[in-house]
Amino acid sequence: MHRSGKTADGELQLFINFASVIKAIEQGTDKITTIDMKKILTILIAAIMPLAAWADDGMWLPSLIRERIADMQAKGFKLSAEDIYSVNEASLKDAVVLFGRGCTGELISAEGLLITNHHCGYGQIQRHSSVEHDYLRDGFWAMKRSEELPCPGLSVSFLDRMEDVTEVVLRGYEKSMSEEQRDSVVRANSKAVIADAVRAGEGLRASVEALYYGNQYYLFVYREYSDVRLVGAPPSSIGKFGGDTDNWMWPRHTGDFSMFRVYADKDNKPAGYSEENVPYQPKRFFKVSVAGVKEGDFTFIYGFPGSTKEYISSASVNYISEISDPARIDIRTQRLAIQKKYMSQSQKVRIQYSSKNASVANAWKKWQGEVKGIRKNHVIATKQAYEQRFEDWAKGSEYEGITAKIASLEAEAQPYNFARDIYTETAYALELSSMASKIVGDLKSRGVDGVNYAAYYKDYCVDIDKECFVAEMNAFKAYVPEELQPEYFRTELARCGSVEAWAEEMFSSSAFVSEESAKILTEAAEAAKDPAYIFYRSMYNWYADVIRPEIRRRSLEIDLANRAYMRGQMAFEKERDFFPDANLTLRVAYGHVCGYSPADGTYYRPVSTLKGVMEKDNPEIFDYNIPQVLRDIYAKGGFEDTPVCFLANNHTTGGNSGSPVINADGNLIGLNFDRVWEGTMSDIVFDPEICRNISLDIRYALFIIKELGHADHLIDEMVLVK
Ligand code: ARG
Ligand code: GLU
Repeated sequence: MHRSGKTADGELQLFINFASVIKAIEQGTDKITTIDMKKILTILIAAIMPLAAWADDGMWLPSLIRERIADMQAKGFKLSAEDIYSVNEASLKDAVVLFGRGCTGELISAEGLLITNHHCGYGQIQRHSSVEHDYLRDGFWAMKRSEELPCPGLSVSFLDRMEDVTEVVLRGYEKSMSEEQRDSVVRANSKAVIADAVRAGEGLRASVEALYYGNQYYLFVYREYSDVRLVGAPPSSIGKFGGDTDNWMWPRHTGDFSMFRVYADKDNKPAGYSEENVPYQPKRFFKVSVAGVKEGDFTFIYGFPGSTKEYISSASVNYISEISDPARIDIRTQRLAIQKKYMSQSQKVRIQYSSKNASVANAWKKWQGEVKGIRKNHVIATKQAYEQRFEDWAKGSEYEGITAKIASLEAEAQPYNFARDIYTETAYALELSSMASKIVGDLKSRGVDGVNYAAYYKDYCVDIDKECFVAEMNAFKAYVPEELQPEYFRTELARCGSVEAWAEEMFSSSAFVSEESAKILTEAAEAAKDPAYIFYRSMYNWYADVIRPEIRRRSLEIDLANRAYMRGQMAFEKERDFFPDANLTLRVAYGHVCGYSPADGTYYRPVSTLKGVMEKDNPEIFDYNIPQVLRDIYAKGGFEDTPVCFLANNHTTGGNSGSPVINADGNLIGLNFDRVWEGTMSDIVFDPEICRNISLDIRYALFIIKELGHADHLIDEMVLVK
């Protein structure tokens, strides 16, 4: 069992251990023999041990890092809380950005140079690629500033400050209010807080976020820079080396990085793209450590984790690992097999579907690790036992019965949640109908000349989509109970006789199957009569009118119950430090470089090298086919030990991609980009034995920039430290 150290049982255990020590001491020091001394030491160590094992999980709020700094320092960190986060002085937070809408990036020079993952910059690199300049395939290096490529639509956000605004946000709220009324109080107050916060200056953006299920509210004020330019990227065969085969896995050899530059106006303020803009001068940037990493080294991750669910009930975990994940995995397994079949038959289709296939496969693989981890750790049983202890403690208090209440609300909501999950994996995932909906929308708002047909159809393979229709709508039929199925679905199915026959009819009568035939529909009203559009509308309306309201109605009550349960857990385990679930706000996670044992008899060492890249290299296998120039460089000799990736036990999740991995001195040693498959349940429960994050060793980035990119000028901008 993880976290055993600070559960109520753990506390009891601690108390007993300390009590016996105190008793021994009270008996008089002279009475303590060497054996007793040893015993005492063992007891003390045993008492402290679980705490140490437990303390590595967590995603802490930087503004409250004072509360953790003693622990961080005890584990090797050499800087102060103010070095991490300070409102008045430049601190490490000023070098970290939210990159786009779901990744992290960091500044590594005084002239706005930024580094993040290759998979975070992927969309931008792709946008600048063409047949003549295939930057995805060949990589890209701007040799001078004028060659840096503008990226419209991309922005980066620096956190200016964060602040507890619970009191203001809840002003006017009274206990007698319904959850709906509370909601509108929170919304109105938040709006005012945000308006006030952004009044102060240009480029400011703010949001108010609920923490601990709304027991607390925090204001986050960002400065958003929108002139960000592409500076460099390795070829995908390095930046995405291992592809989906190695995704979520160790040993890993991916050079997952890309580089950008942030530009500002001449006063260093945010400004839209302009040739007049100049490189942004950050308040703080990371120095790059070339000293290297080894097992046991302190590591600290500063970034924007997206979402975790650490305090949910056993009923919610059960829904995830036993109901929703297995069904979604099953449906995606079918979709991936269909895509793979066509991709292996045609080079064109392989390129068309590589990105789509990767994103379908990414969550699919993660969910499998999550289910496995939850089951292996008996998370449901552990949570049930915890709930039992919680209820014993809660008798007679305002928290009594809260876990049963959550379980019954969850049970009530479950059919609707499940219908939503199945809908998103099936009807909503079909390409034909979603294209139909987009094109009808375009026709309505912009007319036929405003439809970019080529963009919609460039990566479309109708054969894949048709087979997916059959697999997915059969899954819909099997998973969604008949009484919940939309009327439209049932009548169409009855009319056609089978999903297969329905697919035949749909794909032979819809004009949206190809660019040529779609172009015939020039009027929105006419296009809206197409069966693919009707399919989209009917299924969506069912979701929006029947399923979603049921979910919403219950989610208010569930929120209320979860808020009370969260408060209850905090009162129940007074000694435990609770971190708020991730919500794409800036967090600190710390730990150390360490390997793990994925299975009996196996131990994974935490560091990988270029030698391993060469061992995997295989021109026949797309995911492992490295560029010839890398083979040539390697052949020169002396590069075997070039570090590539490393493992650590920092608590991270999606959104932490690109996050700086920082050493005890506050210098950059790597870029976080993944987690190990066996540990992906850390979004729900962190097992210190096997939950590991995977990072790129910054020295591999330097090696690639220099040896492949010949972009030494970029390295010259950085401050390298030994
Ligand atoms: N698993 C990582 C994440 O969740 C990396 C995904 C990109 N890489 C890939 N091979 N699909 O984002
Ligand atoms: N690759 C993930 C991302 O893009 C990070 C891996 C994780 O989920 O921890 O955010």
